[in-house]
Amino acid sequence: MKLKYLGHSCFYGEINNIKWIIDPFITGNPNCPISIDDLEDITHIFITHGHSDHFGDTIELCKKFEPIVITNVEIASYLNFLEIPAFGMQIGGRHKFPFGTVKMTPAIHSSTIDTAQGNIYGGNPGGFIFTFDDFTIYHAGDTGLMTDMELFQEDDIDIMMVPIGGFYTMDLDDAVRAIELVKPKISIPMHYNTFDLIKADPDEFKLKNIFSKTIIMDFGQEIDI
Ligand code: NI
Ligand code: MN
Repeated sequence: MKLKYLGHSCFYGEINNIKWIIDPFITGNPNCPISIDDLEDITHIFITHGHSDHFGDTIELCKKFEPIVITNVEIASYLNFLEIPAFGMQIGGRHKFPFGTVKMTPAIHSSTIDTAQGNIYGGNPGGFIFTFDDFTIYHAGDTGLMTDMELFQEDDIDIMMVPIGGFYTMDLDDAVRAIELVKPKISIPMHYNTFDLIKADPDEFKLKNIFSKTIIMDFGQEIDI
């Protein structure tokens, strides 16, 4: 699988004929080196919660590519209101889609959607555990540390994308504790150095994380995994 980090919590992946993106905060993301015009044929979009640094360019991407959208019920119904089809899952729910299985995980956080009419309720914030072939990814979304993460050990996570920036989410020390609970094979830090309030040193996270391999992805970097 090809994996590309677009800064903040946004990752893009390619596997078989699938081109997925999660938390597509591209426009306005100071660390995202591309614009939405550089993306081609997005087939799947995952949105962890409604905050603009995650919901991002969802509407534009949906209008352009008509992808399969997977998010929570409230964000899905907002998209439906805009005549964009979307799957609205609930925390703890699991579903086998044609491409693989998706489970929505809890996240200790909040969720609102910015609209022209102001903020609206964005449902429960979450994360996703999703599989492509035999490959399992856990994108934690925006969350504080929670003991529930220990349960995800049983999901046999290959890659965990974990926030390390603090203030709105776990900081890097709590992220290391999260890794200890989840025990993924690989951890990729995210949600840091986008804004001054979430400054963090990913090398310090890597040094402290003795529980998995850490891959620090540069903004815009693409790897084969
Ligand atoms: Ni958030
Ligand atoms: Mn955020």
